[in-house]
Amino acid sequence: MSKTIPDYDIDVFSRESVIDARHVDDALREFAPVVRLADGTVLISRHASVTAGLLDWKTFSNTSRPWHDPDSLRPEILLTDDPPRHTHIRAAMTKALSPALIEGMRTSFERDAVAIFDDVLSREGETIDAVSDITRRFVFKALPDAFGMRVEGRENMSAFGHMVWATLGPQNELFHEAMTGIEPVLAWLERCCNRENLAPGGIGMAIYELADEKVITEAEAKLLTLTVLSAGADTTVLTMANALRAFALFPAEYQKLRADPKLVRAAFDESLRWDSPSRMAGRITTREVDVDGYRVPAGQRVGLMFAAANRDPRAWADPDQYDIKRDLKKQVGWGYGIHACVGRVLAQLEAHVLLSEAARRVERFEVAGDMVPWLTTIGHGPAKLPLRVVAARAQNTAQVA
Ligand code: HEM
Repeated sequence: MSKTIPDYDIDVFSRESVIDARHVDDALREFAPVVRLADGTVLISRHASVTAGLLDWKTFSNTSRPWHDPDSLRPEILLTDDPPRHTHIRAAMTKALSPALIEGMRTSFERDAVAIFDDVLSREGETIDAVSDITRRFVFKALPDAFGMRVEGRENMSAFGHMVWATLGPQNELFHEAMTGIEPVLAWLERCCNRENLAPGGIGMAIYELADEKVITEAEAKLLTLTVLSAGADTTVLTMANALRAFALFPAEYQKLRADPKLVRAAFDESLRWDSPSRMAGRITTREVDVDGYRVPAGQRVGLMFAAANRDPRAWADPDQYDIKRDLKKQVGWGYGIHACVGRVLAQLEAHVLLSEAARRVERFEVAGDMVPWLTTIGHGPAKLPLRVVAARAQNTAQVA
């Protein structure tokens, strides 16, 4: 007989909890596999159950989620759809993000990475902020370029990302802080995602061309362009920042990467497992379901906790260890099942280029202060990451595959 879900009286989305989210999520997972928060939301945190929930889209529907406001500024498409609509929109998005289009961006990404490390290495010995000086600087150039953004005001991407992530969580004080002063950001967004402001050959125009072919409507195309900008920015900034943090904290692993640059994909994917930038996926149950011996009723809003599952000791040996040779087949940092990340190829190309340039030119990353966490409820990672770089005296000439 299924057990009743235990109450969990810690506010896991308060400012204090967000600052310490890694330990908060791990503690919740060890308390019980399924818990009920004070506002009624149910959180599922162990690897086997999170994976099963992500796969079972018929039971764990995407059409609503905890704290869901259909009028929020978050684009309601794709991630908020179930099949058959999801299947149709997903196929369109996959076509727009074609490997050939993305591969065509490699040279421009490489130029950006070289310029960033020229600058960072000119400040060798100083404390740099690996987020603003390296990963955000790279993504906030590479992504809008790939997108084909022609209007000024890329600095608004930060505030836009902060707002969109806030809409995934409860409407607490962090939510209201993120929503302060949104009007100019929304006006900018409106302009930069309009067809007439997009350069030919970019992802944005590739999406609008699907509307020309009547695969999707013009309104759906607009929502998908907004989706790319909201889903593709902070996730990539944070995961690459966590890779650099791991390089500093686990120097022996970094030296393995320097010795064998083909490990760059594994180094990035392991940083995604080690500290995932999304704490949970939101779903709503369509029927009563047994999860790990607990009865979850129909119509229940639930969170499937990516980050906690990616460090579940039942699934991973020594989960706090960053290990670039780990078998990562079962990691859920990209999601799992029909909603697994559709932009993964782009993120992996960005990471491949930036982290390869790091491994080629930086002998060591050193911790130069405490990281400052991003104050948002569902997103997670460093807002500031003080590091020092030590330049490689003889540049690593090993070829990256
Ligand atoms: C390291 C970077 C990234 C990470 C860690 C990441 C993570 C994820 C995760 C965990 C999901 C599944 C969410 C769920 O099941 O509720 C997802 C879905 C998605 N991602 Fe990413 N993502 C990244 C980069 C990108 C990029 C660059 C783009 C766009 C170009 C993108 C677009 C999307 C979209 C549109 C979905 C929804 C897919 C669907 O519902 O079928 N992501 N991502």
